[in-house]
Amino acid sequence: MRSSALLAVVVFGAAVAVSATSHKSCPLDGLEIEGLPSSIPPSQLPLSFVSAAIGTQNYTCSPSNNYTLVGAVAELYDISCLGKSTLFTSVQDWLFGMWVDAPADLTSQALVSSYTLTRGSAVLGDHYFVPNPSGKPGNSPKWDFTSTGAFKGNKDAFVTVEKFAGSAAPTGPEDIDWVATNGIDGSLSAQVYRTDTREGQPPSSCQHGSSPDIQVKYGSKYWFYGSKLQH
Ligand SMILES: *[C@@H]1O[C@H](CO)[C@@H](O)[C@H](O)[C@H]1NC(C)=O
Ligand SMILES: *[C@@H]1O[C@H](CO)[C@@H](O)[C@H](O)[C@H]1NC(C)=O
Repeated sequence: MRSSALLAVVVFGAAVAVSATSHKSCPLDGLEIEGLPSSIPPSQLPLSFVSAAIGTQNYTCSPSNNYTLVGAVAELYDISCLGKSTLFTSVQDWLFGMWVDAPADLTSQALVSSYTLTRGSAVLGDHYFVPNPSGKPGNSPKWDFTSTGAFKGNKDAFVTVEKFAGSAAPTGPEDIDWVATNGIDGSLSAQVYRTDTREGQPPSSCQHGSSPDIQVKYGSKYWFYGSKLQH
């Protein structure tokens, strides 16, 4: 592990440990997305949760010999207690640095549970894909807070979404798009935004029939607006 990443774990772990002893999360006042591209309208709804995530974007090689997204898996951490600080601004960089340096066979869940990082209530939940709940073809992104963290056991604490706006990442083509989505199922939130993306892009081409499915590591922030859950 790079020493910068290790330092980041220690600092972030300390910040989270403080918050975990006294709060489930911290006030979200004044927290807003920095540098939102103009093609993505800002949410008009109140911010309900804010998180940083690490995980993988999964791709399969299409008949056009390029990679298409088939799903993603990620772990989310509550970053509300980092407040308006430089730690809040750069959290996706530390998390992603740790994740990139981790052994290839380590899952994001295992990585996280091996550090003090997520002790207490800092884990918000999981992100993965499910069949489209409206019956349309393909899979839909879902965020699920039902099995860990403050909403463990609350069966409504999830949201499945449809994208309504997106933009290339302001940081460059190696980072996956920033996107804005509307909830179509679940009470976790009415909208989810993905910002501050780090990597996650597939190679530009592949050989249909011989290139294996791939998982590409990424990091991001996820912002949840207009939750119907009591919190
Ligand atoms: C893959 O290639 C096809 C045909 O050129 C194109 O229509 C499609 O947008 C490409 N998909 C991606 C994910 O780049
Ligand atoms: C995506 O990859 C992860 C490994 O990072 C795996 O656990 C998961 O099942 C995959 N999901 C899909 C939909 O491909």
